[in-house]
Amino acid sequence: MKAKARAHTNIALIKYWGKRDEALFLPTNSSLSITLDKFYTDTSVRFDPKLQADQFFLNGQQASQQETTKISAFMDKIRLLAGEKHYAVITSENHVPTAAGFASSASGYAALAAAATKAVGLELDNRALSQVARQGSGSASRSIYGGFVEWQKGELEDGLDCYAVPLLDKDAWDLRVLAIEVSSVAKKVLSREGMKRTVETSPFYQGWLHAVELDLQTMKQAIATRDFTLLGKTLEANACKMHATTLGANPPFLYWNSATMQVMEAVQALRDQGLEAYFTIDAGPNVKVVCQPSQVDQITSQIQSLDVVQSIQHCRIGPGISYLDQE
Ligand code: DP6
Repeated sequence: MKAKARAHTNIALIKYWGKRDEALFLPTNSSLSITLDKFYTDTSVRFDPKLQADQFFLNGQQASQQETTKISAFMDKIRLLAGEKHYAVITSENHVPTAAGFASSASGYAALAAAATKAVGLELDNRALSQVARQGSGSASRSIYGGFVEWQKGELEDGLDCYAVPLLDKDAWDLRVLAIEVSSVAKKVLSREGMKRTVETSPFYQGWLHAVELDLQTMKQAIATRDFTLLGKTLEANACKMHATTLGANPPFLYWNSATMQVMEAVQALRDQGLEAYFTIDAGPNVKVVCQPSQVDQITSQIQSLDVVQSIQHCRIGPGISYLDQE
């Protein structure tokens, strides 16, 4: 009745932005990501008939009541699936700079889904596991796999055709991601709340839905032909379109700060010098730059020279979930 799993974070090249069903975590659009090697979560789950409630420990400390309630609601979904009544002790170690605003929900829920379903005795294939992880956090559905991953939105109301699939193995194309920390300030609008407000109030949201379908097709073509320039241009433009929708929301909001924009401008200036770097941004001020291995050093040193940059982490494409031995 116990298991331990590791899952890595992912960065979306084509963003997931909006739900059509909040309870089932069904997205309005399909998305596409690469899994990162550097940031991951290790989670162990042990069911115990003596427990009166789930217990959740995060980075060596008992988590708050609020965090435990969220995790416990997710565990209820797994208990329902498995016909299990007992509670569990859940222990997570986050190797993700959460304070710096890099998303940990993707690796967190993917690792928890893998460990909890194994501990409870369910034997799920990756597709089914992706569906379970999705119901903790949408982007977690993609962290089941390494390499390039597409999360297909599906059409069905029950979500049975809504899961992530692997597109390309992590070793098939060597791309690099520089995770650039510009601000450690906590996000003001969480992604869940931000996408909901955008879907409900932004007149630009219809434009997003139209554009993201086309961007996804272009991105898949770039991946199939290993066309880095096309991949870069498409991922940067897609991120800009996602962020543009937030300015149309009521009340409007923007995840960028002035430091974010300085990095964006620096990336565009690098391209004028012939260095192929492209940026993407999620629901916070930090920037990720996608580039090719041969240009990592030059791009890093130029971005590092900006005053607003606090740290740069160099990531490779990472693996999917793995199961670990218990200590
Ligand atoms: C901007 O997966 O964090 O990073 O499903 O509500 O938990 P919930 O949202 P989450 O949203 C991620 C949004 C994004 C884009 C992306 O990763 O595709």
